[in-house]
Amino acid sequence: MGPPKFMSKSYANSEVLKFYQNLQFNIYSDPKLSADQIKKNNPTKIYNDLNNILVNSSEFKLLDVGCGAGWFINSIKYYYNKIDAYGVDFNQEALRFGEKVSLLLKLDTKFICEDLFSINLKKKFDLITSIGVLHHTNNCLAGIQKLIDLEPKYLMIGLYHKYGRKPFLDHFDNLKKKNKELDKNELEQLLYKEFSLLDKRSKDETHKRSWFFDQVLHPYETQHTLEEIIQFISNSNYQLISTSLNKFEKKWKIEELIKSEKKQTDIGNEFLRKQNYYPGFFIIFLKKTGI
Ligand SMILES: C[S@@+](CC[C@H](N)C(=O)[O-])C[C@H]1O[C@@H](n2cnc3c(N)ncnc32)[C@H](O)[C@@H]1O
Repeated sequence: MGPPKFMSKSYANSEVLKFYQNLQFNIYSDPKLSADQIKKNNPTKIYNDLNNILVNSSEFKLLDVGCGAGWFINSIKYYYNKIDAYGVDFNQEALRFGEKVSLLLKLDTKFICEDLFSINLKKKFDLITSIGVLHHTNNCLAGIQKLIDLEPKYLMIGLYHKYGRKPFLDHFDNLKKKNKELDKNELEQLLYKEFSLLDKRSKDETHKRSWFFDQVLHPYETQHTLEEIIQFISNSNYQLISTSLNKFEKKWKIEELIKSEKKQTDIGNEFLRKQNYYPGFFIIFLKKTGI
């Protein structure tokens, strides 16, 4: 018996939709600033295996699920201009921002407003990506199953890590507990100040706030392990090719990777100790067997 099929049911979280309608993730005060960032940062430099998978041809089809304001799908389209690029998100506001950036960069990224659990595209995709999305649904594994059911050649999935995320969550939970006497606005200001000390990347206030809300005030997130995902896909025809947990090393043994997962907590603690930002996030690349 294979893993359960969840096709007909949606696990979209309506609180999550409201939250992102209020403030979209990873936006700037001006779409032009987003476009400038895309010109500076090629994501294949962060996610090693992308370079090996992407082919700059109109035949190559990429779907980014939960694309939000589109930094990833627009970036890939910018650096691989021939590929056929699609982004799906259930938040129209975020897609509008992504479309503006796409126009500024003279790209023709296609944005579709839809719940990921309802995607029913006729096309078969070479690569489906989903970065920081499925852990904001009511059933992350059903989300992975949905992507598997779309049968891409490759999958790239980014999720919060159970052990890596813990120090960051504990740190902010402790701050919330210690400052219970503050009213909502005061507490938010205090948490924002703390987050700004850790995350020093951006000067744009809208951008900083969009990350702060996403990281510290999110209404719903779950955390996961590689062990859990490997077990889940064991009955599917997908296999792990690489992961950010070992910096996308070419050679690895699954038992060792799983054994070392708990050390992610030490890494998170070390970042915090040095007053640096560590979201506790990991990426996996999966490949369909027999291609
Ligand atoms: C943290 S943001 C990540 C956005 C984008 N992947 C990125 O890396 O910038 C999570 C995104 O998932 C989207 N999302 C959450 N649940 C969804 C669902 N059921 N269907 C489609 N999009 C969803 C949200 O609207 C939001 O844009």
